[in-house]
Amino acid sequence: AILAPVVGPLSGRHVIVTAGPTHEPIDPVRYIANRSSGKQGYAIAAAAAAAGARVTLVSGPVDLAPPVGVTVIEIETARDMLAAVEIALPADVAIFAAAVADWRPVHEAASKIKKDGSGAAPPLAMTENPDILATIAHRSAGRPGLVVGFAAETDDLIANASVKLNKKGCDVIVANDVSAEGGVMGGAENEVALVTSEGIERWPRMPKGEVGRRLVAWIGARLANG
Ligand code: CTP
Ligand code: CA
Repeated sequence: AILAPVVGPLSGRHVIVTAGPTHEPIDPVRYIANRSSGKQGYAIAAAAAAAGARVTLVSGPVDLAPPVGVTVIEIETARDMLAAVEIALPADVAIFAAAVADWRPVHEAASKIKKDGSGAAPPLAMTENPDILATIAHRSAGRPGLVVGFAAETDDLIANASVKLNKKGCDVIVANDVSAEGGVMGGAENEVALVTSEGIERWPRMPKGEVGRRLVAWIGARLANG
């Protein structure tokens, strides 16, 4: 079906969103991943489309339906996520909600790794993945006008988020307490604080859909002001 264009605060804007985990292959049947469900990133993409934006959602493997009116690019690895974001540029806004695997196995075995009978585990050498947010935020040419990062923390939420704001070069960090008791990873609700160079804005706990809508409204106001 052809959908009528939505008119809203983000009309005429291109928004890139990353979401979900990445999968980093060990061999043809095994990979390294994390508990991200993709729900928060998908909710943001849906809210941005509802606000009139053209939305490109670069998504790791998740069990979610594509949001209405959103172009979904499916990837597996962090390197593929970075390449897909670079292809999707230019954008007015980029929102990095994905839980990117920080490390990947150095080698992907071409065949399934077998037990050798000795009882010893195979060594698994790891290397750091590219930082997609930092790479895009530090671009001199073609940097999106507004770059939104997330910070997943189990301790010292605001302090760690402030460090990430500066180190990664983004305009705002959505700080997210992902300690197990909060049930945020995979859960339906989120409790975040927005950290910018101007200060900290704490939001109450609310459904991830509501966080998505409020974040999109916040972005719309920010674009309107300058
Ligand atoms: N991020 C990214 N690419 C990576 C790692 C993280 O784009 N390789 C982005 C995430 O999507 C998020 C932000 O960076 O927007 C912060 O991710 P987080 O995991 O909280 O921070 P890291 O910088 O990876 O540091 P650490 O996990 O050690 O706390
Ligand atoms: Ca990380």
